[in-house]
Amino acid sequence: MADVLDAFKENQTTNTVDATKKMRIGIIGTGWIANAHIASYLKQPDVEIVAGADLIPGKAEAFFKKHKVEGVKCYTSGEEMVNDKSLKLDAVSICTYNRQHAPCAIQALNAGVHVLLEKPFTVTTEEAIEVMKAEKKSGKVLSIGFQPRLDDNMIMVKDIVQSGVLGKIYYVQTGGGRRRGIPTPFGTTFIEDETAGLGALADIGCYSLDMVLNALGYPKPLTVSGVKTDYFGKDPNYIGYKNCGHPEYYKKFGVDDFAAAFIRLEGGIIIDFRIAWAMNLDTSGDTIIYGTKGSLRIPSTECWNGTIGGDLTIYHEVAGKQVETKIPQIFPKPGDPSNFDKKIRTFLDACKYGKPAPVPTSEIIYNQAILDSIAKSSDLCREVEVVIPEI
Ligand SMILES: NC(=O)c1ccc[n+]([C@@H]2O[C@H](COP(=O)([O-])OP(=O)(O)OC[C@H]3O[C@@H](n4cnc5c(N)ncnc54)[C@H](O)[C@@H]3O)[C@@H](O)[C@H]2O)c1
Repeated sequence: MADVLDAFKENQTTNTVDATKKMRIGIIGTGWIANAHIASYLKQPDVEIVAGADLIPGKAEAFFKKHKVEGVKCYTSGEEMVNDKSLKLDAVSICTYNRQHAPCAIQALNAGVHVLLEKPFTVTTEEAIEVMKAEKKSGKVLSIGFQPRLDDNMIMVKDIVQSGVLGKIYYVQTGGGRRRGIPTPFGTTFIEDETAGLGALADIGCYSLDMVLNALGYPKPLTVSGVKTDYFGKDPNYIGYKNCGHPEYYKKFGVDDFAAAFIRLEGGIIIDFRIAWAMNLDTSGDTIIYGTKGSLRIPSTECWNGTIGGDLTIYHEVAGKQVETKIPQIFPKPGDPSNFDKKIRTFLDACKYGKPAPVPTSEIIYNQAILDSIAKSSDLCREVEVVIPEI
């Protein structure tokens, strides 16, 4: 009888990985986030980490030693690494700071190597276009490192919007914030213009935009009116600098710590967006997707990093009554892969089996163009049109 009843259980087959073909992987940029990449790669039975590169001499060697990975060839130039044919590289993770995303991705694609590129895609739209041209010419997989969209809750958000239960979506309020959260515990590459290019916008703003744009099916952005400020980052008394033992960091701050925008999308949808690395507030508000048949509230977290802060709520009308339906937050079960592990696994499978990139540039170009347009609109003090050329 138990067997019969078991037939109604959800399909619990586990995906097995074909380990007979090993993927030869390299890592470009062996800083903070590279630790998450190598940890996930080491869990995959079909991966051999064969090379690593970092501009800082000795950094790549120390990184692999720390992770107890032996026999890895190290370089001080990602370009030299991807062009070393003796490595027979299949794919690379690019974990450099933002300003080095485009050059490293173009070099790897031109060398015929699949690329998992950390978020944000690039700094400017123009750079992103150049990367997409290299992607098209190479025929290789290029996926952008947005692991939050692989979270079960984010998949639920998309499923709700795509199901039509909310009706026509016409307005979205989104963003996120941290009370004091300028990321400097590991140095200044997030806050200097020459390495980061964009601040809160590129670090966490891209996640808010991906959450809603992905749910909406990535409609094209048309115009953006934006503003960005740096009141906290440039403050000599900013508490975070003192806490990390570097009160002088305010002198290096060259990006945005807050940004807001009014974004028009095709299909008559408006996004009202705000993002903050620092602010005098607990959160900058929940994400709310307004629809003609229902609206969806996605609770924010106090330290925004692309995860949801509680149960979802749909506000709608049933039998003439105004009601709220709770959709419980989904928590991972013990043994479930992390979102980061899913990001690595889906990328590897796309490379191995010729599948589309899990987070494709054809979508993220819109995300990137919005970030860039907010910066440009702020500099110009006026609304800008989003122009994305054919590739
Ligand atoms: N997906 C996520 O959850 C997540 C989290 C944190 C950071 N990130 C992204 O990862 C990127 C790196 O962040 P980080 O905190 O690791 O920065 P980091 O400064 O700690 O590390 C970057 C490393 O890249 C090296 N580098 C730069 N240009 C290079 C080049 N051309 N060739 C070889 N090495 C080069 C630097 O020397 C440095 O060691 C950023 O773009 C950031 O937005 C993603």
